[in-house]
Parts: sequence; C-alpha cells; structure tokens
Amino acid sequence: MRALLTKLEQASALDRVGDRLQRIVQATLRPQRVRDLLHGVWLGHPLHPAMVQVPVGAWISAAVVDLLPGQRRAATTLIGVGTFSALPAAVAGLNDWAALSRDQRRIGLVHAASNVVGLALYSGSLAARMNGRHGLGRALGFLGLSAASTGAYLGGHLAYKQGAQVTQSVSELHLISDGWHPLGDFAALPQRQLVTREVDDVSVILYRHGDDVTVMLERCPHQSGPLGQGEVQQIDGHDCVVCPWHGSTFRLNGGEVVHGPSGNDQQVLPSRVVNGVLEARLP
Ligand code: FES
Repeated sequence: MRALLTKLEQASALDRVGDRLQRIVQATLRPQRVRDLLHGVWLGHPLHPAMVQVPVGAWISAAVVDLLPGQRRAATTLIGVGTFSALPAAVAGLNDWAALSRDQRRIGLVHAASNVVGLALYSGSLAARMNGRHGLGRALGFLGLSAASTGAYLGGHLAYKQGAQVTQSVSELHLISDGWHPLGDFAALPQRQLVTREVDDVSVILYRHGDDVTVMLERCPHQSGPLGQGEVQQIDGHDCVVCPWHGSTFRLNGGEVVHGPSGNDQQVLPSRVVNGVLEARLP
C-alpha cells in the first residue's frame, strides 16, 4: 500500500486532468467570500473534514442497520441523509483541493474519484430502495461503503502524511525552548512594518503598531509560505498580513485567519517589553 501511495504521489500523468479540474474549480467557486466560507475561515478550522462526518456516519450506520431484520426504512433514511450531505462536503473538499500542492492534488484526485464512485453507488442504492428493490439497494450500499472507505483512507493519507490543510507552522513551537527570548530593542522597531527575527532558529515576524507589538510565527500555516515577505493590508479596520504564496490573510493583532486558502489561524507568541527589550515566549 505504501509503494502504491508513493507511485500515486509521483503520478504526473494525473496532472493533465488535475490541472484542468483545478482551473474549473477556481473559476467556478467565486467570489473570495464563497471560497472562505468553504475553507472554514469563519470556523478557524478547515470545514471539509468536519462536514464529511455526516455522510460517513450515516453510511456506516446504514451498513449496520442493513444487517438487522426489519430495518429497511431506517436504512433507506440513513442512505438518503448520507447521500445528500455528501454533496456540500464534496464542494468544500474541491475548494481545499484546488489550493493544494501538486503531489497532494494527485492523491486528492484519486480520493475524490473514489468518493464520486461511492456517491454514485449510494445514489443507485437509494433509488433501488425507493423502488422496493431492497436486496439490490443493500448490495449497492456495501459496494458504496467500500469505495467511500478507500476515499477516506486516501483522505487520511492527504492529511496525516502529506499535511494537506494541516497547520504547517505550529510544529515549530516544539523547537522553541521554555522561557522568555530577547528579540531586540523595542524602540528601534519601525511602526507598521514587518520585521523578521529568530527565536531558537524559528523565524518569527514582529509588527509594531503604536505601543502594541505582535510576535507571530513566520511560516504560513497553509504551506509554509514566508509571511515576512507578505504585504500588510488593512481589512475591516485591522492590519493584516497577506501570504505572498497563495494569499492567505491573517490579522496582525491575534493571528486570526481572514481569507483562505488557510482554514487555520496563525500562531502568535506572548510578548512583553522589559527594560526596553522586546521578549517573546511559548504560548
Ligand atoms: S503558503 Fe499558501 S497561503 Fe501561505
């Protein structure tokens, strides 16, 4: 299985389809606020993994109920709930997929294809059950569960092996030692400009606004883009940094994500000024 997944990650033959689908998704899912909604910006976490709990839960429950006598109606209801709830979950997943790196998109494409097959089988299962053909409906349901399980396995690989939509920056916190770390003379910090410094070899950005200062990890939580090279913009009265790679935008007074593709906030470090020296520590 590992060898197969490695081959899939390197399967450049998938790129023609993947690149075309990416353009279609990016052209269709507009404007930005729709993309942000689907990325889970309003939630502070990616939305797709939360949404898939409904179809997965309903389909697994249907499989259990299908093994019990006299539960046809319950099984049909669960298949219907799973099938219809899978559609918005798939749209949120496509929106995340379009902002992934190429190797992630290859696995994501097969993940999506498995789930489309699963969805088609469950739609057939629902139609068969509603026409009274419960034996066929049950068989299609179990086939659908097999396809959806393959999709779920690939989704796990995307998240846990390839780090898709997982905060990339937060693991750097483990590299910072305990205690306060000096970051230089506070008075020398320019106003409303990004300044890059290091805490135990971990890059952070400093942003001073008046007497307030923010110390934030520099690696973008989306795919490790250098936020220190980003642009500062004012959005809804808040100074924000825009990642130079894919445009994820974070408030500079707290790290809250304002625009995706990141669905995660950026990590800010507690800071203080002692004898004119700015210091930061682990949260
Ligand atoms: S790395 Fe993708 S938005 Fe920052």
